[in-house]
Amino acid sequence: MSLNIEFIGNSKASHTLYIIIAKKDSLNKHNFSDLFKQEASEFLKENKQEVLTLYKDKQKINAFIYINTETEYSAKLDNARVFGSIIYKTLCKDKSTACTLTGLNDLNEKEIYALLEGMLISSYRFDKYKKNKSVAKKLYIEKGSISADKLQELKHVTAAQNIARDLVNEPVITLNAIALSSAIQKLGKTYGFSVKVLHKNEIQKLKMGGLLGVNRGSDDPPTFNILEYKPKTAKNKNPLILVGKGVVYDTGGYNLKISGFMSTMKCDMAGAAAVIGAFCAIAANKLNAHVIGLIPATDNRIGHNALVQDDIITMYDGTTVEIQNTDAEGRLILADALSYAKKYHPKLVIDLATLTGAAAAVTGHYGIGLMGTADKKTIQQLMESGEEVYERCIEFPFWKEFDELLKSEIADLKNIGGAVGGASTAGKFLKHFTDYPWIHLDIAGPAFIKEGAKGYQQKGATGVGVRLLYNFVKKIK
Ligand code: BES
Ligand code: MG
Ligand code: ZN
Repeated sequence: MSLNIEFIGNSKASHTLYIIIAKKDSLNKHNFSDLFKQEASEFLKENKQEVLTLYKDKQKINAFIYINTETEYSAKLDNARVFGSIIYKTLCKDKSTACTLTGLNDLNEKEIYALLEGMLISSYRFDKYKKNKSVAKKLYIEKGSISADKLQELKHVTAAQNIARDLVNEPVITLNAIALSSAIQKLGKTYGFSVKVLHKNEIQKLKMGGLLGVNRGSDDPPTFNILEYKPKTAKNKNPLILVGKGVVYDTGGYNLKISGFMSTMKCDMAGAAAVIGAFCAIAANKLNAHVIGLIPATDNRIGHNALVQDDIITMYDGTTVEIQNTDAEGRLILADALSYAKKYHPKLVIDLATLTGAAAAVTGHYGIGLMGTADKKTIQQLMESGEEVYERCIEFPFWKEFDELLKSEIADLKNIGGAVGGASTAGKFLKHFTDYPWIHLDIAGPAFIKEGAKGYQQKGATGVGVRLLYNFVKKIK
């Protein structure tokens, strides 16, 4: 994190001053020159967002004319985030390492939160492998613009999102399944949630054939990670379970990803990263919810023993699966985790996975594909949580006809469907292993941005899912 937001202390520091002007009245508050006032009011009249520079007593002042004309709640908040990123970019051009931002009080509390959130999210850099690191900036804001608790919550959540982004951006050469487990254990100690790592011998004893099957081509062993956050104040009797796809690299296996499709496949553990990030955010903010996380982790590679088409494997719950495509590996490892989840009698299970290119083709990086068996109200709640943080979910068809496409003549299931509905058949495959209310989120589209990052987004890992899950868990009753 290269932006540190603090409240203005008692000492008057001579930082560059930034002012947000969102209301006409505010122009009179600041003792601006008539010329500036005239210019600014023109923009305000025209509903135009602008960045203006003026000088007062030789001090350079940057004024942001902030006009949020969006009326719809979700879009309005996101506009505030985008504006936060515009402010952050202006700040970056400034040589001083500390800046002061005033005028936030022109905005309502939710907008202020979103604006600062946009600044924090856009300040992320994955520069651990660069000689030239980004410089840390300090931003002072006025006391009373946002409560100290809210600011702390925001810092925790965006830091957790950045943890997810760091994990996804890390290549497999430094982050195999074992390293991912070590990272989870370390975070568990720091943030206050328990972590149990099952290693290959235990996974073998449990006969998790899906996870072991995908791992067959690898020199690195798989892991199965169990995270638990259980405060005494937990409101839910039965746990909420979060399952994350932890394919630390997806080469496709023998159905090799060719013609460039392998590039970015370090992001295939973004579901796992979202779960890990959500745990950090939930524990740091001490939410009153009992949450369990399940993360099956392995890479998907070629090796002399790797799965091939026509193999039949037996999953953790005894289901046999005919392998028809080794690149449909995510569902195999998730199936074992979903079967494992049954023993906790969960209130709800949500899985997050970069599962299908088909989902990405529908959503782009703008949203998440949602399917499942949870009741309408729960799905609605999750979708609303998504709108608020702008990690929007869209319901994909989950028709019974898609079940038919997974039938195998020689095993209980095959691991791919037909030519159509790739995201839906992947979801249906997973459904087979659930017997509780369940929601599947296909994040293949929004997990990683290769091209076309805008506003507060950046190229690379997005950390999608962290703010969505946090916001959803916060509302658990
Ligand atoms: N990890 C991929 C899905 C993916 C694609 C994630 C693009 C992020 C961006 C997944 O394991 C996969 O390869 N799915 C196949 C399934 C197919 C073989 C049925 C796909 O979508 O092509
Ligand atoms: Mg694959
Ligand atoms: Zn994959």
